[in-house]
Amino acid sequence: MGESAQFGVSRRGVLAGGAASVAVSAVPAAAAQTAPIGAPPALAKMAFEVNGKRETLELDTRTTLLDALREHLKLTGTKKGCDHGQCGACTVLVDGVRINSCLSLAVMHEGDKITTVEGLGTPGDLHPMQAAFVKHDGYQCGYCTPGQICSAVATLSEIKAGIPSHVTEDLMAKPRATNDEMRERMSGNICRCGAYSNILEAMNEVAGGRS
Ligand code: FES
Ligand code: FES
Repeated sequence: MGESAQFGVSRRGVLAGGAASVAVSAVPAAAAQTAPIGAPPALAKMAFEVNGKRETLELDTRTTLLDALREHLKLTGTKKGCDHGQCGACTVLVDGVRINSCLSLAVMHEGDKITTVEGLGTPGDLHPMQAAFVKHDGYQCGYCTPGQICSAVATLSEIKAGIPSHVTEDLMAKPRATNDEMRERMSGNICRCGAYSNILEAMNEVAGGRS
């Protein structure tokens, strides 16, 4: 007697049972989709501080922080590169910590303090990192530059705060702003123009306080 026959189960029965369980398990997922196609978007009120100014918005809950900044607050310094968390062009600081704003919903930032490249400095009073990028030609087309500058500022803050990176050898010692540390920490910011060496020079100047 075959094993399946011994337990009263045929190959056809197993396949049919499997199909049935798939169908049953799919029911709750389908039922969970309560919003009918074509329904109006869910709106939410939100308030946060952007570059020192309190902003209140009412947006589709699916709006990313990047789109809230660019499309609704008209702060177009922050750039949309991939919109998938892969290029770093959309980097902004949230309570001093850098994030990819394309991967974060605006509604998640109630009460947060957000800094974009426009909030770091002004044309007449550049942030030291902005000035160093200009001095060292840390860009060519400039599309990645706002994200690079926000990320560079946060990178030096992270090193100063003693936060280790993937290349920090001694986790008990305070990390130093070496080229390896800075390259590793900036690896999420892609530059299609290849301005990497100049960006590193700019960061070295700010890290070392050289003029
Ligand atoms: Fe956000 Fe590329 S646009 S990571
Ligand atoms: Fe052109 Fe970086 S300066 S992509």
